[in-house]
Amino acid sequence: MALVTTTEMFKKAYEGKYAIGAFNINNMEIIQGVVSACKKYNSAVILQVSKSALKYAHPLYLKKMVDAAVEETGIDIALHLDHGPDFDTCKLCIETGFTSVMFDGSHLEYEENVAQTKVIADYAHSKGIVVEAELGKLAGVEDDVKVESGHATYTDPNQAVDFVKRTGVDSLAIAIGTSHGAYKFKGDAKLDFDRLELITKKLEDAGFHNYPIVLHGASSVEPSSVATCNEFGGQIKGAKGIPVEMLRKASEMSVCKINMDTDIRLAMTAAIRKSFAEDPSAFDPRGYLGAARNDIEALVERKITQVLGCENSMN
Ligand code: G3H
Ligand code: 13P
Ligand code: ZN
Repeated sequence: MALVTTTEMFKKAYEGKYAIGAFNINNMEIIQGVVSACKKYNSAVILQVSKSALKYAHPLYLKKMVDAAVEETGIDIALHLDHGPDFDTCKLCIETGFTSVMFDGSHLEYEENVAQTKVIADYAHSKGIVVEAELGKLAGVEDDVKVESGHATYTDPNQAVDFVKRTGVDSLAIAIGTSHGAYKFKGDAKLDFDRLELITKKLEDAGFHNYPIVLHGASSVEPSSVATCNEFGGQIKGAKGIPVEMLRKASEMSVCKINMDTDIRLAMTAAIRKSFAEDPSAFDPRGYLGAARNDIEALVERKITQVLGCENSMN
């Protein structure tokens, strides 16, 4: 059993009108919670690691735990670098054995994003590694970068085609209204589906058949997790995510990868806060981390069935 690449996963997802879940991992409990749910539904999955996760847990620990997950569950798992900031981080992950990398040059001026993405894509492809890049700016907080909503820019459809042509990347993360973190919308949630459709059409017309689109910042910020956090001492006010129906709609379109991290953080924090409050005398980490792992598993089951539609994607 070995890790798999996302190429075949995306091909099947596009044709089958579903998306593969990409969940951020930082420790053993998150990995186990995610893959248990995927095993139950016979679903392929992408486990992804940010720059700060690499720093927190060490690339080797994460890689070895993911190898263990592959061996233990037998499901299709891809290991992906999320928001790679530069060539060296991408190279480190490739050398560690990741199956795909994202280079995020979305904050750069367009020509610079094209140039840096192309260098990384050429290098990764020479090693047989799949590449994701980003065009357009999402609002929100990721790693140490914060983009105010006024500075977010939606992806330009013509530029998307030019970008894919010139860089050779295998999938493209676009900005259509999603954002990172727990505070995505002040008013009503809105995604620009017309723009998604136009990007898809223009790519198809340019010869990029069934080209996989990626949606970042796609947590729904489940109200029940937020309520539990707040009930047991948390202070998460005004949090709002992407409605489940919108994500399901995107997954039936050209979106083949949906990124979720915030929902896992909230589920984990809610479970731990609840455990601490309910049994203040307990001090075995396996109690509260075990509760968190169970709730992450239940969360990912909801994502598979309600958001992604990827049940039985292993078949
Ligand atoms: O998009 C960013 C992910 O949520 C990762 O966040 O850099 O705090 O691990 P992180
Ligand atoms: P959320 O903050 O909506 O979970 O998005 C995570 C993400 O895009 C990771 O790349
Ligand atoms: Zn992201």
